[in-house]
Amino acid sequence: MEPVKIGILGLGTVGGGTVNVLGRNAGEITRRAGRAINVHMASVRSLDKPRICDTEGMLLTTDPFEIVNAPDIDVVVELIGGSTLAKDLVLSAIRQGKHVVTANKALIAEHGNEIFSAAQAQGVTVAFEAAVAGGIPVIKALREGLAGNTIKWLAGIINGTSNFILTEMRDKGRSFDDVLAEAQKLGYAEADPTFDVEGIDAAHKLTILASIAFGIPLKFDQAYTEGMRELTTQDVEDAADLGFRIKHLGIARRAAGGIELRVHPTLIPERRLIANVDGVMNAILVNADAVGPTLYYGAGAGAEPTASAVVADLVDVVRALTTDPENRVPHLAFQADALEDIPVLPIEDVDTAYFLRLLAKDQPGVLATVTKILGEHGISIEAIVQKAPHEHGDVVPIVILTHNVIEKSLNSALAEIAGLNEIQDSIKRIRVEYLEAD
Ligand code: HSE
Repeated sequence: MEPVKIGILGLGTVGGGTVNVLGRNAGEITRRAGRAINVHMASVRSLDKPRICDTEGMLLTTDPFEIVNAPDIDVVVELIGGSTLAKDLVLSAIRQGKHVVTANKALIAEHGNEIFSAAQAQGVTVAFEAAVAGGIPVIKALREGLAGNTIKWLAGIINGTSNFILTEMRDKGRSFDDVLAEAQKLGYAEADPTFDVEGIDAAHKLTILASIAFGIPLKFDQAYTEGMRELTTQDVEDAADLGFRIKHLGIARRAAGGIELRVHPTLIPERRLIANVDGVMNAILVNADAVGPTLYYGAGAGAEPTASAVVADLVDVVRALTTDPENRVPHLAFQADALEDIPVLPIEDVDTAYFLRLLAKDQPGVLATVTKILGEHGISIEAIVQKAPHEHGDVVPIVILTHNVIEKSLNSALAEIAGLNEIQDSIKRIRVEYLEAD
């Protein structure tokens, strides 16, 4: 059979890795796909730049639309990132009946509903395994491997840069900025690293995971994101004293009134496997009704780990070229006309436990006042620890772990506590998740 001709938009880290993997494993890939995959064209920003891959035999262009418009290209692989030019290119490729493989999480999370509906109308596939957690085949696992389950919740370390920062802060006491600079040098951080540390990158990935898990449209604009810049080594140490680790988690949960969709720093028990996922590695824990908890772990970024997912998608697309579009695996796991528009819960309605740290004047009755206010708001205490007094001044840190509470009740209680004369400075609060399989 004739090789399938593909065009790659962008020959940077992931594009170069994809060319290398396709070349090195060509024999195995052809045996799996049933046809050879030939990189016929590639677009680059500059023709003279040194690259990590060999471009011999490829037609190189600086105009990505030349690839999208080329009649002999069967599949377009979009690896330029961003959601403006990439969106135009992908929609244009779809309109011309080409299949698309993309690693672009922002594009799928923000414009996926429009892109999938265009693809559906044209009978083409848009594959995006590489958009979430790099080389971990978690989209495939959720969409196909767990297809018999009702997914209850998933929780993931889905940004390697923020996990690397937290790990180095905990293990080496390094400062936030120092570790971030190293993550940028290693090539893990986004072009704009605020996407990593403010949770936007993780929210893009979580949005995609939640849609596939629950069969809902992509709702990135409703995801709650809280960054990790405010975390201190003190927080990390206090959490460790209580038997917890702090991770920047993306959590999607099916709750009574809707879907929880949130990214924020989270205390998790240190005995959980996912609490021990360190450095730039990613992991996603999925709790499903039939199988129970399953954990997907691996490299969430990097040239060849991400290329691994891109090439797996290419193999899927090549296999699907001859199948009836109606009988392909649906983009968001559930049939397009069977998606349910379940509301995303506002963060104030989320039910979770809390770690609190307050600085209180070291005088009789303060603790009793604080616990009374918590009690009046229906907040039950799991643990309370008064730490050694501060070296300077007459204040003591008090660390409290609460049981689960609806966030708006906690907000009211904390507003009252913060108003007490005996309480100083702002109150630190970090959500706690036990990640029990139940
Ligand atoms: N900036 C991302 C990360 C790259 O740190 O995980 C992979 O999406």
